[in-house]
Amino acid sequence: MHVIAVSNRKGGTGKTTVCVNLASELAARGHRVLLIDLDSQGHCAVGLGIAASAEWSTIHHVLATGGNLDDAIRPTPQQNLWLAAADPQFEHGRLGGDAQALRRAMLSAMLGNRFDFVFIDTPPSLDSLLINGLTAADRLLIPFVPHPLSFHGIRQLAKLLFSVISRDNASLKILGFLPVMAAEHVRQHRAMSVQVAREFGAARMLPPIRMDIRLAEAFGAGVPIRAYAPACRSNEDFQSLAGDVVGRLECPAVT
Ligand SMILES: Nc1ncnc2c1ncn2[C@@H]1O[C@H](COP(=O)(O)OP(=O)(O)OP(=O)(O)O)[C@@H](O)[C@H]1O
Ligand SMILES: [Mg+2]
Repeated sequence: MHVIAVSNRKGGTGKTTVCVNLASELAARGHRVLLIDLDSQGHCAVGLGIAASAEWSTIHHVLATGGNLDDAIRPTPQQNLWLAAADPQFEHGRLGGDAQALRRAMLSAMLGNRFDFVFIDTPPSLDSLLINGLTAADRLLIPFVPHPLSFHGIRQLAKLLFSVISRDNASLKILGFLPVMAAEHVRQHRAMSVQVAREFGAARMLPPIRMDIRLAEAFGAGVPIRAYAPACRSNEDFQSLAGDVVGRLECPAVT
């Protein structure tokens, strides 16, 4: 099982869009995928077209009470894809300084026997939820918009990453940097991607997700892009990304 946190300290950098669509593409390829939404905005459920329901607990309730993660894991309309949804009423600060709550909940639910991938969507705020996400993950995927302000968020996250590695989770590694909303013809976008590659290593660059309004539309419709507009360019990009991630993690083929 691969546990991938999707994070950036800057808001609106495509974290949730990447979680929903990459998780959906991997599930369509036959991998068993769980998406955990640590961001109390609750956008993963929106992107998957899932309404709030008292039948299921939330990941925030599980973390705050030490409850059973299984109570929060619900099926989605897509085969092979499950969601542990967020609690939009969650009061930040309720976790205190406990960095290990998510890791403990995942261990006791023995997710390793049931899922091939776990994606953790994280809030942009520097709080206990983000630290819990990084502590429970073994890989970090960092989507960034190729814009000068992005460097700030990436550098802040890199700092946090090193402190989590030294304090809470020595096995956390960077899976890659992912340019999103990229426009090839904008010189500034190209220059920013080159700069990130120079600072963090060209081998850590993932194939970009281009700017595509269809992604925003699909999100609004509550359907992953592969079902909403299979012929569009961002769906092609998510297919390339899924292939790249599977290759990097050396996942066995699904039969
Ligand atoms: N490649 C893309 N092309 C066009 N629009 C995009 C693309 N990726 C994401 N968006 C849009 O950008 C907005 C922000 O994306 P998203 O919500 O995924 O970011 P986020 O990092 O999760 O935000 P937050 O920090 O608030 O959680 C959304 O409206 C989304 O539909
Ligand atoms: Mg988000």
